[in-house]
Amino acid sequence: MISIQTQKQIEQAVDILKHSGVAAIPTETVYGLAGNVFDLKAIQKIFEIKKRPFFDPLIVHIGDLNQIQDVVSTFPDLAQFLAQTFWPGPLTMVLPKNSKIDSTITSGLPSVGVRFPQHPVAQKIILQLGAPLAAPSANLFGKTSPTTAEHVRSEFQNSVFVVDGGACEIGLESTVVGFDESFKVIKIHRPGAITQKMLEVALVNYPGCISVLPEISNVAPGHLKHHYMPHIPLVILENGAFEMHKTNLQNQLQLKNLDSKELVLSADPVRVARELYSQLRDIAQSGATMMYVYKNKNHQDELWTAIWDRLEKAATLKI
Ligand code: TXA
Ligand code: MG
Repeated sequence: MISIQTQKQIEQAVDILKHSGVAAIPTETVYGLAGNVFDLKAIQKIFEIKKRPFFDPLIVHIGDLNQIQDVVSTFPDLAQFLAQTFWPGPLTMVLPKNSKIDSTITSGLPSVGVRFPQHPVAQKIILQLGAPLAAPSANLFGKTSPTTAEHVRSEFQNSVFVVDGGACEIGLESTVVGFDESFKVIKIHRPGAITQKMLEVALVNYPGCISVLPEISNVAPGHLKHHYMPHIPLVILENGAFEMHKTNLQNQLQLKNLDSKELVLSADPVRVARELYSQLRDIAQSGATMMYVYKNKNHQDELWTAIWDRLEKAATLKI
């Protein structure tokens, strides 16, 4: 159920989007900073507001399966199968773009990342606008993604209109997958809530020889080493207790005053994923000058892969 207040915000957002503006919208993964894919003015605003370099392509969000025709030049069987299985949901597929998608969106690549989000508010906005939305996460480039409307408001000092759809259920960005040329191999470019195992299990029902490779690579220009970073340094401790490293850390991080807080992860990865970005933001705003987290070798569940992918990139240092 969408409340009357949210419904009003949806109308407002659609109006902004119709006039070359951008609006932040909720999705089940993280909040996105959205603009009409067919409006270059809006697309340029997204890059400006985020301070995002033009070499990092945007994901295009569709509101129903029909809209895929507006975005890609081909929709191969394997991609259709994954769409049937995982859409709407936290899976982005990198597919050949069609000529209607401007190369600013794809950073000059011949491919485009497409996702059909599950959040009813996101779907409604896209369908009411009648066009897909380009939407990166609604944070400054390289910083922690937002999982509440308040996160977005504080990130951009209230300069961006936000549709409040509540706290994001998943809390980590979508799984990004690409394919080999013959569409026989799936490559995971960014791990997320759709895990390698889930893909493999689904593919048992797909005819043909398909393998899934955990290729968390640099294929995507946006997959830089440092990303998702909080406003104070995060340190991953792989060996020994924090107390042991205190002086060393104070020197390495060049901190006058080492006021530290531990980032404590719950044992439940679903909960960790949902709360991680709020935790990072809360600690960064608490007055602490740095935070640390202990590496846990028992974190084997596949959702942990996505969580540690983000933590490793968010970290300034590992010791
Ligand atoms: O869950 C999500 O995916 C969120 C919500 C808002 O949908 N969006 C998101 O967007 O995380 P962004 O821009 O923060 O991350 C998109 C990632 C980037 O790492 C980018 O490099 C990659 O997807 N990507 C986009 N288009 C691509 C392409 N054509 N080829 C390879 N990677 C691509
Ligand atoms: Mg992002």
